[in-house]
Amino acid sequence: MHFQGYRGRDHVTDRLAGKAIIVIGSATGIGAATVMRLCAEGAHVCAADLNAQGAEAVAAAARDSGGNAFALPIDIADETSVNAAVAAAVERLGKLDAAHINAADLRTIFADSNALDVDLAVFDRTIQVNLRGHLLCTRAVLPHLLAGGGGAIVYTSSGSGHSGEPVRPSYAASKSGLNALMRHVASAWGREGITANCIAPGFVMTPEMIAGGQVPPEVLSAFTKATPSTRVGEVDDIAAMAALLLSAEGRWVNGQVINVNGGALMA
Ligand SMILES: NC(=O)c1ccc[n+]([C@@H]2O[C@H](COP(=O)([O-])OP(=O)(O)OC[C@H]3O[C@@H](n4cnc5c(N)ncnc54)[C@H](O)[C@@H]3O)[C@@H](O)[C@H]2O)c1
Repeated sequence: MHFQGYRGRDHVTDRLAGKAIIVIGSATGIGAATVMRLCAEGAHVCAADLNAQGAEAVAAAARDSGGNAFALPIDIADETSVNAAVAAAVERLGKLDAAHINAADLRTIFADSNALDVDLAVFDRTIQVNLRGHLLCTRAVLPHLLAGGGGAIVYTSSGSGHSGEPVRPSYAASKSGLNALMRHVASAWGREGITANCIAPGFVMTPEMIAGGQVPPEVLSAFTKATPSTRVGEVDDIAAMAALLLSAEGRWVNGQVINVNGGALMA
């Protein structure tokens, strides 16, 4: 019941009615919240993830809330898997209007020490999933969006992509690269009706982090103190921005890295 913390139906807009959207990296955390939010706003959603069981649980939760969602397995480190999953998603959705490419391999982040010490296997894996994987997803979804006359791509980046930190250089480099990839897509295909944007979240306590007790109180307190807000982030804060950018209301937002961070980084 890891999706208990998601508030998928707190809002009543149907601005995504009729939209077919794939969320890649959707089994937990921000992606799961986005699936719930997009469904609540009327979209038909494919929840794709390496964690196929988790994605299926999220899609089932969305359906239980009255939404229209299904799950598919995908490994964004593998080109064949990406192409097969996107093709299967489009076949089932009947078209593709938008994509939220959100997946990241976060298992290596604590070993992502500094530029002198980091194991190159950690660096390579981080780039393989968080950057190369997003290129593969872009190549798979873009032709379908163009075939429909345009569409929106939202990537999940991170404040670390432009803040400068003494730790996690591989992660930060992958997110900086993702920002550059996004700007390229926005620039190359904007005139054909494509919008591409990154959301750069600040520190977000996902329901899984809360349930797992992974964040010690002193760390949470430090993040809260570093944020000129009343709290740290919640997954729904990011899902709300994704829904806006994927809707018609976001059609003139293009090529931007949008910080959603309670003011923790003002750039
Ligand atoms: N939580 C935060 O504080 C925070 C802050 C900034 C940015 N982000 C970014 O937000 C995004 C979501 O993070 P989250 O905190 O919800 O973590 P999460 O681990 O809950 O979500 C990541 C998802 O990606 C999936 N994934 C991992 N490798 C994959 C692969 N090879 N193929 C397909 N799916 C794969 C995971 O199974 C998981 O469902 C990530 O891109 C992360 O870098 C999170």
